[in-house]
Amino acid sequence: MNRVKLLSEQVANQIAAGEVIERPVSVVKELVENAIDAQSTRITVEIAGGGRMLIRVSDDGIGMSESDALMSLERHATSKIQRTEDLAKISTMGFRGEAIPSIASVSRMTILTRERGDDVLEGCEICISGGKILSVKAAGAPAGTTIEVRNLFFNLPARRKFLKSEETERSHIQHYITLVAMAYPGLALTYIQDGKMIFQFPAGKADELESMRMKLLKERMRLLYGAGDDLIEVDNSIQYDSTPDEDISAGLPTQMVPLKLWGLIGAPGVSRSSRDRQHLFVNMRPVDNKGLNYALLDAYQNALMKGRYPVCCLFLVLDPSEVDVNIHPAKKEVKFHKEAAIRRIVSRILRTALEDYSDPFKRDEGNKLPHESKLERMAQPSLDLPTRPEMKTAETNAPAVPESRPYTQSLPFSPIGVKNVPIKSDRKMTYPGQYRVPSQVTEAENTEIQPEPMPPANAPLLTVPLRFLGVLNRLYLLFESDRGLVLVDQHAAHERVLFERLMAQTEQGKVESQQLLLSETVELGMRDASLIREKLPVFHRLGIGLHEFGERTFLIDSLPSFIKGISAKKFILDLLDDLRTAGRELTQADMAEELIASHSCRLAVKANDIVNREEIDHLMDELRHCRMPYTCPHGRPTIIEISQRDLEKKFRRVL
Ligand SMILES: Nc1ncnc2c1ncn2[C@@H]1O[C@H](COP(=O)(O)OP(=O)(O)OP(=O)(O)O)[C@@H](O)[C@H]1O
Ligand SMILES: [Mg+2]
Repeated sequence: MNRVKLLSEQVANQIAAGEVIERPVSVVKELVENAIDAQSTRITVEIAGGGRMLIRVSDDGIGMSESDALMSLERHATSKIQRTEDLAKISTMGFRGEAIPSIASVSRMTILTRERGDDVLEGCEICISGGKILSVKAAGAPAGTTIEVRNLFFNLPARRKFLKSEETERSHIQHYITLVAMAYPGLALTYIQDGKMIFQFPAGKADELESMRMKLLKERMRLLYGAGDDLIEVDNSIQYDSTPDEDISAGLPTQMVPLKLWGLIGAPGVSRSSRDRQHLFVNMRPVDNKGLNYALLDAYQNALMKGRYPVCCLFLVLDPSEVDVNIHPAKKEVKFHKEAAIRRIVSRILRTALEDYSDPFKRDEGNKLPHESKLERMAQPSLDLPTRPEMKTAETNAPAVPESRPYTQSLPFSPIGVKNVPIKSDRKMTYPGQYRVPSQVTEAENTEIQPEPMPPANAPLLTVPLRFLGVLNRLYLLFESDRGLVLVDQHAAHERVLFERLMAQTEQGKVESQQLLLSETVELGMRDASLIREKLPVFHRLGIGLHEFGERTFLIDSLPSFIKGISAKKFILDLLDDLRTAGRELTQADMAEELIASHSCRLAVKANDIVNREEIDHLMDELRHCRMPYTCPHGRPTIIEISQRDLEKKFRRVL
């Protein structure tokens, strides 16, 4: 007897639906993606009952003929790819020809569509229930497509039972709509929930989309989340080496390809306790990619508290042939051919942006990497719908992203609280009124003081004139600025200063090492021993005198002198924990950062340490020289501001 039988189309579709259509938001996502692929400029999403009762997505895209609409209900029917090779360079949201038949098999669906074109006089309407076509008829309709999905999972009670509350399903849908709103500022997007208009985003003007994309994104972010967070613009284009490993070993020439990273990230100190406000898009597709998450955290490394996550809306645009989008049933994950390189590049670009924020001299240059090349113009992805983020292959050998600015680089600084009037600097001011003066300024130069206009209201705190008022609680330094009250946590500030000083020493290979009075030995397990053995040269450069003393035994005879009050053995075991967590990828710089961040705290001025006025000025000067002055190495803020307006509100002078 034949036991192995082919499943019916109906069951096959329901199985596919099991993977692709997890919950109502999956339907919304598939329908909206289809509308985007259909070059729509206007999309309306309407839901009722958390999407279980109704999901309706209408667009003004290219529409479908009757035969195409019928064909779209077949499994593996798509207009987006044809051949195997196409899979390697997907530039549309959809490509599997699975979504429509899957949704149709688990709901009651109506497709109303009319092809664009003056000669197309009428459209068609197809009604399907649980995958069975009930009717096909001609119908009047505007150009575009409206797909209505009612009673999701009506024929799969088990799936229906697993759905969460209406409220939960609604919030998933709303979240997805926000992602679309951010990624497509050129799209007029309307979202209606149970008859109530929730969002209505007007379309950005088509001819302005390219030049105004940052502004449009900011506008949409403000509409979605308010204006609370201080955000930094990121906009970089570079080329990177994408030569496949086998080509490298075969000695074939290097292939450089373009990459663009743009969007907004939270300034140092801006964070959330979850990833909720972390939006990452790869070629306009919202994705969850471990490497990118890691790159983001890495960029903020010592500007973020443990357990906190950055706020961002970032778009990574690269050649479609460099990304595999066919690795997840709902296409939520992607894989880069050069994962490690992308991670490194993204992390460096973001870190540079964060540092530039703290360094207005560079900020003025437009927050761009010094090697910003003509690629910027050449590889600019167009946001102008319906254009996909297509990229041309690189023609030049543009330089790679530079290393981050070394900790050793210093800038002219400004003494605080000395004078109320900004002093002319020997360097070009980044913006009027910036309060900077070279350290060697002379009396003679001082006589040339010229008042300058005030800094803009959103200028970073350390660039506005601060007048010292006193010390609160023997810990907080109080200053006034023209914008309000400024408080500095002297412990956190000192920690940051020390951290960067020690980092500079490690970068220059000048770590002071101190001989232990008594050497100690540690015996490790096989795996740990091999991990440590591999890193011995790095340890030595960091001033850690660790030597092999047997197969699994190591001898420690010296430690960096900034490490105090901890047994050498405990120190090595802690370090091993870090190594195990980070794996072999932990670089010397990472290791130094980790080490120094955890030890600079002990060395920093402790709370209640009284510092005199001269020391305060010195501390503030040093803080201004830091690459990331606004947070301590653990991500706590060093400096905060209570605005004039907040004070007035508290005293009820304004409402
Ligand atoms: N809103 C729409 N406007 C115009 N054509 C559409 C629309 N929705 C679907 N189609 C057509 O129907 C086809 C099938 O859609 P479906 O979503 O099932 O597959 P896909 O988008 O090609 O791939 P995927 O399953 O990965 O989403 C599409 O390839 C497209 O040609
Ligand atoms: Mg699709």
